[in-house]
Amino acid sequence: MSRRAASKRHLLHEPMAYIQGFVQFDGLKMKIDRRSYVPNLETENLVNYGATLLRQRKVDRPIVIDVGTGCGNIAIAFAKRFPGSSVIATDILQDTLTLARCNATTHGCTNVEFVHTDLIDDVECPRSPDLVVADLPYGSPEYLLKSNALEEMQHMPIISRFTEGLLDAYLELIEQIKAKRWRATLIAESGTVPEKVVSRLLPPDVEWTYHAYQDYSLIQLEVGDEKDPDE
Ligand SMILES: C[S@@+](CC[C@H](N)C(=O)[O-])C[C@H]1O[C@@H](n2cnc3c(N)ncnc32)[C@H](O)[C@@H]1O
Repeated sequence: MSRRAASKRHLLHEPMAYIQGFVQFDGLKMKIDRRSYVPNLETENLVNYGATLLRQRKVDRPIVIDVGTGCGNIAIAFAKRFPGSSVIATDILQDTLTLARCNATTHGCTNVEFVHTDLIDDVECPRSPDLVVADLPYGSPEYLLKSNALEEMQHMPIISRFTEGLLDAYLELIEQIKAKRWRATLIAESGTVPEKVVSRLLPPDVEWTYHAYQDYSLIQLEVGDEKDPDE
């Protein structure tokens, strides 16, 4: 691409990652284009947090589910950090998953399975997963209008950015985990949503903790009851 074409795209607020065609995440180079949301650097906190939990719990061959995988960055980061793990990555956009599969192949990850589905609807798991991680759209359009990255986000797939109501997708994900009768730790990126708003929205029967970083937050939730094996 000529420098002139690149600066024109830059002037139109196209994310630099799309112009360059790649993004660095957790020390790995990910191919990226308009088929997928551009991963944020802060999302590495979610990977670090989840990896620490798995190590503390000394899970031998962990099952990790990455919900709304985008270009596959989180799933691939876990697959590389835990070579003995089984990672299942889902997305509602088929094109996004094609890009994620390409990134997994580039990084030689044979322990990631990609599933085209709504949240975890069609995911089949031999037992409760050890970890569910999710960086789903959490903001309503009204909320995101205040974002300082709005112009860049306009270039990304719309479903990767907006939900109707705050934390809607996470509330639905909690219901889906319960319906599957899994007992799972869910780590969800909650960005700039304040703790008091989170506490108003989450169901009362779910234990959760809020972890604030600079301009960014995560929620750890303990969801569901394990199915009785004799059932
Ligand atoms: C904010 S982007 C995050 C992408 C990636 N996980 C990352 O860290 O950059 C949200 C992703 O969730 C996907 N998504 C949105 N709604 C979904 C749903 N109901 N089921 C599965 N994936 C969904 C979008 O297509 C998008 O790839």
